[in-house]
Amino acid sequence: MLDLGRQPRFHRPRDRDLALDLEALTALLSSAGFIAAQEEADQLLARAAGDVELLRSLVERRLTGEPLAWITGRVSFCGVEIRVDPGVYVPRWQSELLARRAIDRLPATGAAIDVCTGTGAIARTLTTARPGARVVASDIDERAIACAAANGVEAYQGDLFAPLPRTLEGRVDVVVGIVPYVPTPALPLLQRDTFTFESPLSYDGGPDGTEILRRVLTESPRFLRRGGALLLELGGEQADMLGDDLARLGYRDVTVLVDEDGHERGVEATLGR
Ligand SMILES: C[S@@+](CC[C@H](N)C(=O)[O-])C[C@H]1O[C@@H](n2cnc3c(N)ncnc32)[C@H](O)[C@@H]1O
Repeated sequence: MLDLGRQPRFHRPRDRDLALDLEALTALLSSAGFIAAQEEADQLLARAAGDVELLRSLVERRLTGEPLAWITGRVSFCGVEIRVDPGVYVPRWQSELLARRAIDRLPATGAAIDVCTGTGAIARTLTTARPGARVVASDIDERAIACAAANGVEAYQGDLFAPLPRTLEGRVDVVVGIVPYVPTPALPLLQRDTFTFESPLSYDGGPDGTEILRRVLTESPRFLRRGGALLLELGGEQADMLGDDLARLGYRDVTVLVDEDGHERGVEATLGR
């Protein structure tokens, strides 16, 4: 759950700064501090499709620090194009590791739950890879549920597992979630613009960040079949912090997922047989 490479506070473009060609727009964004200036310029130009006034408004929005995906309305996740509505958490490429593990654990005609689905990116990725599987998702935020539904996801609004069909109890092969896991005291350390645009609801994991993670550990066995997989994104030392709960609740084969830089990014566990 990293930040989006947004840079804090840029100068507004003067009229003569704003040109329709890639080179000029790249230079403008670069001088304003955007690291991936050319890629962003490309996407903004594609979204404006030659409409100068539209391009001006898109660029001005971006210069306030608004997430690029809210402006373009799209992001690519595991090679799948995902619609992103303003106000809904933008899926991060760092979460693709967990999504790919979820695909690996989901049989062709199995069942999966994506809790805290946001845009529905993980659920949509799962149905794309396993079209014969039943994949359902939940989120507490109505904007997220509308966005997930627009992405073709069977999405239910409510708290974690509460709104999900009870017919799935004991039958699910995979529970996967990018739930809020930032410790409340660390929220002010997120990039300066984060809560100008996004909601703490997407990030706040309680005093040590594990409040919702622990709830998912506790509630998953109601839906998971024996041998089913639990996959959760987390950060820092949280995998260690969850060790006792995982053992007590009957999870086995606990694996910590580590990214290319050696950072702990998730935990994978199997509900005991
Ligand atoms: C970090 S975002 C992840 C979204 C999505 N999984 C992704 O990776 O793009 C966390 C999501 O959890 C949702 N959320 C927070 N608390 C929740 C709860 N108690 N039950 C269901 N969803 C919740 C938020 O609305 C937000 O969409």
